[in-house]
Amino acid sequence: MAIPVIDFSKLNGEERAKTMAEIANGCEEWGFFQLINHGISEELLERVKKVSSECYKLEREENFNNSKPMKLLNEIVEKKSGEKLENADWEDVFILQDDNEWPQKTPGFRETMAEYRCELKKLAEKVMEVMDENLGLPKGYIKKSLNGGEGENAFFGTKVSHYPPCPNPELVNGLRAHTDAGGVILLFQDDKVGGLQMLKDGQWIDVQPLPNAIVINTGDQIEVLSNGRYKSCWHRVLVSTDRTRRSIASFYNPSLQATISPAPELVEKENQQVAYPRFVFRDYMSVYAEQKFLPKEPRFQAVRAI
Ligand SMILES: [Fe+2]
Repeated sequence: MAIPVIDFSKLNGEERAKTMAEIANGCEEWGFFQLINHGISEELLERVKKVSSECYKLEREENFNNSKPMKLLNEIVEKKSGEKLENADWEDVFILQDDNEWPQKTPGFRETMAEYRCELKKLAEKVMEVMDENLGLPKGYIKKSLNGGEGENAFFGTKVSHYPPCPNPELVNGLRAHTDAGGVILLFQDDKVGGLQMLKDGQWIDVQPLPNAIVINTGDQIEVLSNGRYKSCWHRVLVSTDRTRRSIASFYNPSLQATISPAPELVEKENQQVAYPRFVFRDYMSVYAEQKFLPKEPRFQAVRAI
């Protein structure tokens, strides 16, 4: 079983209806799908790979060798207790936003990643419009909800991760299993080194590396907006013994002030029960910060109570 691969360029041609249906299926049945021919140039993607890997080598790798997960792993290996490292991830990570500090030393990193983020944000908005249409919502509904009404207040962040080789991959996760808190996630993962898995029907399935594809997955807020039609899925990263995996995830998330609730159109039209509370995203994030690696249902309960 492999997650769906969808040719996004076919949205503009004779196969539009079929492609819309494929995306609807990806959202409803999987929560994960891969887009090819998504309109981001290969030339740009090649540069993104190059500057990210160079940045890791130049500005990050040495620090990882002195990092907390490295020390914790060494401790449990020395103890030989057979226990697994449960509260850490074997991951080097930093986040790019419009207004935070970016790595400075790697030639071309800033320019390339700024260009990439701009393209990815546009792709996120296109994907959200497809979701609007598939859900029967007015065009722009999801974007507007995540922006808290009018304007451009949504959070758009890009998480640059590297998963270095690990001598004891059975003792630690690259990234522990979780569902994503936010809206739409666009992932540019390593061409060759796998490790990302998503949970479907109780089974962990590899998100197969596919050169220059963009993997889309939906977060908890899309689940709420869609009143449960589009569920956020558990996923995790396993580590490799011999190779570093690169993974660049961009998040189109609500602004912290945005109020999130099931779309009234979906509740009324379909005569559905309202399955989720109405809450301010900031409150959800304070619960998520404590409970990221736990099931999401108690998070919805916790914000219901606020
Ligand atoms: Fe995630």
